[in-house]
Amino acid sequence: MNDRGFFISLEGIDGSGKTTLKESIIRELNLNNSVVGIREPGGTVVSEQIRDLVLDARNSGIMGKTEALLYAAARSQVVEEVIRPALNRGQIVIADRYLDSTIAYQGYGRGLDLQFLFDLNHLCTGGLYPDLTLYLDIDPLEAYRRRQGELPDRLEQEGLEFQARVRAGYLVLAASEPRIRQLDATRSQRQIHDEALRLISTCLLSRNRD
Ligand SMILES: Nc1ncnc2c1ncn2[C@@H]1O[C@H](COP(=O)(O)OP(=O)(O)OP(=O)(O)O)[C@@H](O)[C@H]1O
Ligand SMILES: [Mg+2]
Repeated sequence: MNDRGFFISLEGIDGSGKTTLKESIIRELNLNNSVVGIREPGGTVVSEQIRDLVLDARNSGIMGKTEALLYAAARSQVVEEVIRPALNRGQIVIADRYLDSTIAYQGYGRGLDLQFLFDLNHLCTGGLYPDLTLYLDIDPLEAYRRRQGELPDRLEQEGLEFQARVRAGYLVLAASEPRIRQLDATRSQRQIHDEALRLISTCLLSRNRD
């Protein structure tokens, strides 16, 4: 789907270590500004405004389908404005969440129709899927313990049962999609970082051979 750059997404429940890993990968790989990091929802002015709207604790009345459509709108914008142009320039793009979050959260977490969400993902990305997805697997309680002291946002308030359904969804996705590689996120940051870099190098090398 993209001939030049390399597209990595990071997935996992809240507090699984995605942002920590994204920052350490960028520190390691970002020679000559060759890496573009984004977060979802977000990554553009418009997408960050949609993020504020969706995560605002006052908006507890947002319906599940509305939420999915707002995330899709934010994703469509960041794909066209940032991700595709960066890949076309030959850069590495690292996304802190991408389309698997929609399936795990809105599908398995909230119970929206999975086929609707797969179709929505295809539409809003124009079929741009990551070359490699690193899924950080961790028990919701352990992830929550790490985050004590931070104020929960609207999604986080819904608690550990919701996170457990989301995790179950990620596990189904990881077992069915070859691009998704599952990492044990209970290990040290160093161990996770090293494994992530090994997986990235292997994937890059095998793609360059094709
Ligand atoms: N391997 C690790 N071991 C112990 N603590 C970690 C590890 N990785 C990250 N943390 C800590 O866990 C907390 C959550 O990590 P982080 O913010 O990277 O998760 P996240 O997946 O980005 O969460 P969110 O989905 O809410 O954005 C942070 O306090 C971070 O310092
Ligand atoms: Mg984060």
